[in-house]
Amino acid sequence: MRVSVIGGGYVGVVTAACFAHLGHGVSIVEVDAGKVRTINAGEPPIYEEGLEGLLKVHAGKKLVAGTEYGPVADSDLSFICVGTPPAWDGSADLSYITAACRSIGEVLRGGKKAHTVVVKSTVPPGTTENLVIPTVREASGRNDLGFAMNPEFLREGRAVKDFLHPDRIVIGSTDPAAGERVSKVYQGLDAPIMRTGTTAAEMIKYASNALLAMKISYTNEIGNLCKRLGIDVYEVMQGVGLDRRVSPHFLNAGAGFGGSCFPKDVAALIHLAERHGEDPVLLRSVMEVNRRQPLRMIRILKDRVGDLNSKKIAVLGLAFKDGTDDIRESRAVPVIEALLESGAAVAAYDPLAVPNMRQVFPQIEYCTGAAEALAGADACLLMTEWPEFSRLDGEFELMKNRVVIEGRRVLSCDGKEGICW
Ligand code: UGA
Repeated sequence: MRVSVIGGGYVGVVTAACFAHLGHGVSIVEVDAGKVRTINAGEPPIYEEGLEGLLKVHAGKKLVAGTEYGPVADSDLSFICVGTPPAWDGSADLSYITAACRSIGEVLRGGKKAHTVVVKSTVPPGTTENLVIPTVREASGRNDLGFAMNPEFLREGRAVKDFLHPDRIVIGSTDPAAGERVSKVYQGLDAPIMRTGTTAAEMIKYASNALLAMKISYTNEIGNLCKRLGIDVYEVMQGVGLDRRVSPHFLNAGAGFGGSCFPKDVAALIHLAERHGEDPVLLRSVMEVNRRQPLRMIRILKDRVGDLNSKKIAVLGLAFKDGTDDIRESRAVPVIEALLESGAAVAAYDPLAVPNMRQVFPQIEYCTGAAEALAGADACLLMTEWPEFSRLDGEFELMKNRVVIEGRRVLSCDGKEGICW
């Protein structure tokens, strides 16, 4: 099939590369000309495991990127993969979706070829029906187009693997034929396909992310109590997770969830619930536990070293999780903010995320390795679950005081204290 992918962010590029891998001819439409050049040169514009290999094989052949919408007219399906960032009030900003729909519609105007427009971006329930369909129809002047909503469940850093080995594929459509065309594009993947309406598909995505975020906040609240009682929360959640109704995943206690999805999607769901007259107490608590959690690191730190003024604090890990250079909503951000407010000198290290964090905190010291950050430090805060941190040991001897507090359970050395273990 011929597929267009609108948007060259992590969802768009991974979707495009994986569709090419499944044998389809794919065009990416991306406004950023620099990104287009990078993709066409076979280089991934973002770090994503396995993506470079796919781009090297398919870029310039089965997969071509460009800044124009022209290729949409020749394709069977277009997948909208643009961002839906949070607006000032927590609701999802749909302006990129609207712009993409107009451009798709304009290029399909006067055409005869059958085409299905598929929303992959995370959008509030009702968006496909109330915004996407009317906007594309108006811009195209056509009533013969198909529409579908096909949410993505890709974790950053593991997105290629998640795409090619999904737990499920959810396809919401307005008519069975459109849904059928979307399911054909996934032929070759071994996963159950769930067919539904577009609004239910949209809600499945929000409900999934909110439930995963809830598991994390729940685990952290249990962890905070376990720490007070001298119980190991990891042992507890292992026991809890063995229940098949719970599953062992997303029960790792720590500094809380970050990233471009969970915080944004839970906030959007809260906004949606309030707008419809509901009082989403549980969802608000999920966010509140997550807001407070990283600040516990500072409380423990102050208990251990006292006044932080002029103390050197090593921060290991800046990305919101391992395997990515993304620092959006990283739990390291509020921690560094609090350290700076207390007058501490921060020496930070991350294998990938230093350039991004430099934009947010140009005033702190960035190190090229953990040992450099730890040398002469009064304390160390570990913020990201990078596997390389699990091998640290002798490096902690370089510290002035060996106070090591981990916000993710990764260290194997002696003498560390966990945020809630
Ligand atoms: C998340 C979802 O996992 C994907 O299914 C979804 O498609 C994606 O959002 C999206 O909406 O696009 P992602 O944000 O890449 O993926 O990251 P996760 O791997 O889910 O981790 C999110 C945060 O939760 C990280 O900060 C991680 O450190 C934290 N986390 C995760 C925990 O604190 N404990 C856990 O047990 C698991």
